[in-house]
Amino acid sequence: MTILTMTNDIISWKSPSNIALIKYWGKHGVQLPQNASLSMTLKNAATNTELQYRHSPNDMEVQYFFDGERSQIFEEKVIIYLERLKSEMPFLGDYYLKFSSSNSFPHSAGIASSASSMSAMALCLVSMEEEVSGKKLAKSDFFKRASHIARLGSGSASRSVYGSWSTWGVAEGIKNSSDTYASPLDFSPHEVFSGLGDAILLVDTTPKKVSSSLGHHLMKVHPYATGRYRQAAMNLEALMVSMQVGDFDSFACVVENEALSLHGLLMTSSPEGLLLKPGSLQIIDAVRQFRNETRTKIAFTIDAGPNIHLLYPQTERENVMQFIENELLQYCENGRWIDDEIGDGPERMK
Ligand code: DP6
Repeated sequence: MTILTMTNDIISWKSPSNIALIKYWGKHGVQLPQNASLSMTLKNAATNTELQYRHSPNDMEVQYFFDGERSQIFEEKVIIYLERLKSEMPFLGDYYLKFSSSNSFPHSAGIASSASSMSAMALCLVSMEEEVSGKKLAKSDFFKRASHIARLGSGSASRSVYGSWSTWGVAEGIKNSSDTYASPLDFSPHEVFSGLGDAILLVDTTPKKVSSSLGHHLMKVHPYATGRYRQAAMNLEALMVSMQVGDFDSFACVVENEALSLHGLLMTSSPEGLLLKPGSLQIIDAVRQFRNETRTKIAFTIDAGPNIHLLYPQTERENVMQFIENELLQYCENGRWIDDEIGDGPERMK
């Protein structure tokens, strides 16, 4: 195995993960979503990716390092992605590319790493494109292009190139919305949502049995598919209204409906995917009881896995911390949870 030694051009981006509130579940064509989705960008859960490149006399050559070690598994996936990208970015064929990546969150923490890793890689590639072509894009065009390139790697990654709130997919009521790239939310949500916290309760961190790719694929023949896409559009509209007026109760209602609908779809797919664990349901029950009794502003959402995200305004932080400590840690694997919150989006490091 030859290790490339490169002393020249280096680009590095740190890009965060995101949690969808309106879920993308079902795709068609080349990574196009069946419905529009809306997500909150996280602050702490991020991937750092460094790209070193130099001109190659032959064809594209790629090396991929994760946590300092060359990773054959990731490298193969990255090569497939980059080969597909060559029609969009023909210059890739003329370069040696060395990627070195690491995550700020622990492996098997139940945080989807494809959104942060694919967005970090896409940002590096678009920065490289600017450098090798000598054509600098306007800021909004840069991020639009990065979102588009990220989407081709992983749909949810298209939303991670923006801070705070992003939407992806054509939606009535969202100006200039597109299926091919995400955009920042086109209004400023009410201040109750401005510093939203996300406590990620780790119920089970063993690798999941149903990949998102398989889940999206199963939607193609899912008997509820048409109804689901209609529901997602209605939920998106309702969520945006509650975010504009600052109605946390209706926000919670929609967000929780989306999370449970995703799992409903998973459970009724063929083959089915039952990803929730007894601890997930116990947390959901406890959250609803706590909210009824204390009127605390708190909502749960769930990714395609058993871990529960608790969303809450900063004014409720103390209450929520105590609630987690006293009542929820018992359902977390080894008492583990991750303290995250809404973040400002990617940062160029080099
Ligand atoms: C449940 O973006 O991981 O997190 O496009 O196949 O890479 P691919 O799928 P991916 O799917 C994410 C599914 C989800 C919901 C969401 O993030 O919107």
